[in-house]
Amino acid sequence: MVTVGIIGAGRIGKVHTRSICNFVHNAKLKTVADPFMNEETEKWLKDMGVQNTTKDYHEILNDPEIQAVLICSSTDTHSPISLEAIAAGKHVFCEKPIDHDLGRIREVLKALEGSSLKYQVGFNRRFDHNFAAVKQAVLDGKVGDPHIIRITSRDPEPPSPAYVAVSGGMFLDMTIHDFDMVRFLAGCDAEEIYVQSAVLVDPGIGEAGDVDTAVITLKMANGAIAVIDNSRRAAYGYDQRAEVFGSKGMAATSNDTASSLVLSTAEGITGEKPLYFFLERYTESFAKEITCFIDSIENDTPTLVGAEDGLKPVLMGIAAKKSVEEHRPVKLSEIVY
Ligand SMILES: NC(=O)c1ccc[n+]([C@@H]2O[C@H](COP(=O)([O-])OP(=O)(O)OC[C@H]3O[C@@H](n4cnc5c(N)ncnc54)[C@H](O)[C@@H]3O)[C@@H](O)[C@H]2O)c1
Repeated sequence: MVTVGIIGAGRIGKVHTRSICNFVHNAKLKTVADPFMNEETEKWLKDMGVQNTTKDYHEILNDPEIQAVLICSSTDTHSPISLEAIAAGKHVFCEKPIDHDLGRIREVLKALEGSSLKYQVGFNRRFDHNFAAVKQAVLDGKVGDPHIIRITSRDPEPPSPAYVAVSGGMFLDMTIHDFDMVRFLAGCDAEEIYVQSAVLVDPGIGEAGDVDTAVITLKMANGAIAVIDNSRRAAYGYDQRAEVFGSKGMAATSNDTASSLVLSTAEGITGEKPLYFFLERYTESFAKEITCFIDSIENDTPTLVGAEDGLKPVLMGIAAKKSVEEHRPVKLSEIVY
């Protein structure tokens, strides 16, 4: 049994609280910290079975009984708290991204050098049953050599322009998951990236300095070509699909729906819309990633999404931004870190 603390009790902190309390059988959640802890959150946490709540995450870092921390606070706190947690001898699960600044990610990588502490980054989609099945088909050689990888990733509704302004922009906030998925499915890094992007959903997003629609092409180190298409608003809901096409065949997934109902009437044939958003669609993968993190601590095995895997999609996001700014393909080697 591994005793853990959670830092940050917002949306994703609550998701991981629920997972640990309900599904992760080899972890015990002792303390949750959030500077804005209020009575309502406190009550919710107590009802979930969490022993302690605090406004100061140092209580978690200073608690010798707590072996591992989950950093679920706002993005700008991830790398500083990672460094403090590593210095305090805690295993770390850090939500994506580790940081938007490559120098600060490098500091985290440096702090982990020669350490036996586990560090996992929250790229939960690798643990999704659909994407994991595509990956397995690739690993089993069913599609042969990968030639084309396609990721469709469209949100059901855009975030507010205020959120966009502080989120690091679409590439570092949303597409970062797709960059990780491309690396995961290809089994290698990207070498070059080119982006066509636009503001087609909400002019406010453009005024905040971001884009809401993009098609991204990537040249992978194994020669495969990848395509990611992103929209901040798909009228029919959260559209999350992947396909690997190769020399022997193709592995592809469709969206998850609440049921497999297909209704056929005189008017036509209809099915269910995709599950609404990431909280619904990825519930199982959020629990699975934490189970695997705890397993890696208990069995002293490497985490399945390490700090280096946290760095690479940020590099790709920065290259994507550069491609938009300079209207040209950008080699990943151009991004100095
Ligand atoms: N893996 C995923 O799919 C996924 C999904 C959502 C969010 N995230 C990531 O999780 C992070 C949090 O996102 P969210 O949607 O839960 O945001 P949120 O705003 O709902 O929650 C963030 C919480 O962190 C707290 N916080 C801020 N500073 C803190 C500190 N020093 N110590 C403790 N708590 C602190 C805030 O008070 C807030 O309650 C972001 O970095 C985001 O990128 C990942």
